[in-house]
Amino acid sequence: MSQLRGDYKSVWNSLSGSKHDAYLYVSGYTDEDKFHADAEDTVDVLRETVGVRPDDTFLEIGCGVGRVGRVISPFVKQWIGCDVSANMLRLAGRRLLGLPNTRLQEISGYDLQPIKDASVDAVYTTVVFMHLEEWDRYNYVLEAMRVLKPGGRFYCDNVDLASPAGWAVFEESRLRFKPRERPAQISKCSTQPEIETFLRRAGFADVNVAGRLNFWAYGWGKKPAA
Ligand SMILES: C[S@@+](CC[C@H](N)C(=O)[O-])C[C@H]1O[C@@H](n2cnc3c(N)ncnc32)[C@H](O)[C@@H]1O
Repeated sequence: MSQLRGDYKSVWNSLSGSKHDAYLYVSGYTDEDKFHADAEDTVDVLRETVGVRPDDTFLEIGCGVGRVGRVISPFVKQWIGCDVSANMLRLAGRRLLGLPNTRLQEISGYDLQPIKDASVDAVYTTVVFMHLEEWDRYNYVLEAMRVLKPGGRFYCDNVDLASPAGWAVFEESRLRFKPRERPAQISKCSTQPEIETFLRRAGFADVNVAGRLNFWAYGWGKKPAA
């Protein structure tokens, strides 16, 4: 029986039954050098947007196998990786061995319920929104607002429908899959206005949106000070 896109736990556990599959579904490849280099690029984007500071507690929504966690954790006080998939988190535990300031947390797929209100300095989610329904993207923006301390920072990204390479992703999926045969995790693009709307509606201040590499739309903002 085909899986429902919104049944994130079952969909993502079934995509990550082996290390090979998990790495492939996280990034599209399994080459370790590229995996590490791409994570360094992600951390550079976080540095340029929300900033990365030694006293920060950082939280990632949809952390996968800890691709970014492994690279960012030496630069922050604590890194918390949240994911819907227990299989992904098991592999993340292996990737993060020897990094004592990292913590992993399984979540429902719809909220950050185990995380306390106003307890983290920065929340980010990368390469995740394309796999979620729009309502669930926004629910995570609201949850980020809840768990951030006043003045805390939030970053999110998605493939940009309005970019040349984003449009190619859209067309590739449209032409490749019949309507009833689309995989549950198929990537669905956003636009900069969608991301901006979600951040502003959730109450973030200092909202910025931008595009990158003719492919990504991303946005960031701050939780207003109390
Ligand atoms: C393409 S991977 C990206 C992983 C990681 N962010 C990275 O950049 O390496 C997508 C991740 O999102 C997780 N995920 C999918 N749906 C989710 C949901 N509703 N809530 C939390 N995590 C989710 C998957 O289990 C997977 O680990």
